[in-house]
Amino acid sequence: MATALPKKWNLGRPVQSSSAPLVWLYRLSVLLVWILLFALLMSLFLYALSWALGSKSPLGFLGQAQAMSVGSAALVGDVQAGERKSVSCQACHGPQGISANPIWPNLAGQQEVYLANTLKAYRSSQRQDPLMSPMAAALTDQDIADLAAYYTSLKP
Ligand code: HEC
Repeated sequence: MATALPKKWNLGRPVQSSSAPLVWLYRLSVLLVWILLFALLMSLFLYALSWALGSKSPLGFLGQAQAMSVGSAALVGDVQAGERKSVSCQACHGPQGISANPIWPNLAGQQEVYLANTLKAYRSSQRQDPLMSPMAAALTDQDIADLAAYYTSLKP
């Protein structure tokens, strides 16, 4: 005679006491398989993440993120160099960053980080415009930093 479990435990399935240890062994192994699968997926994910961020060792991207922020901080825009480089921009964005034509945006006093990010977006074709994309295509990171610093410094 099987031991009668309280009704809320056996969920309608009759559990025979003789097979109960086997059932638990089975459940334990299923649980172990899930844990192993989870660990495998997590390590795959971490490897993929570190690979995508271009570092050689897994979790190396943690240190790399620091190096990246140091690297971009080193690229300081030079306002005077930006003024020289802005000659080709003036035709559309105006000599003082104030555009004469309503379809061309003013740049004077715009946020420096926004200007740099926008120019990089045009350069990588992430943002596209028939007039702006060719202008940004030839800019180096230093050009972009200088131009952003220059237009930020102008009075809006
Ligand atoms: C032929 C005209 C033209 C020239 C030259 C030009 N631009 Fe532009 N620029 C535009 C137009 C038009 C837009 C708006 C395009 C759009 O809607 O994406 C724009 C947009 C921008 C924006 C984004 C503004 C915003 O608010 O999102 C930046 C930054 C910019 N230009 C910087 C420059 C710089 C720096 C140069 C010189 C290297 C330059 N432009 C030269 C026409 C020009």
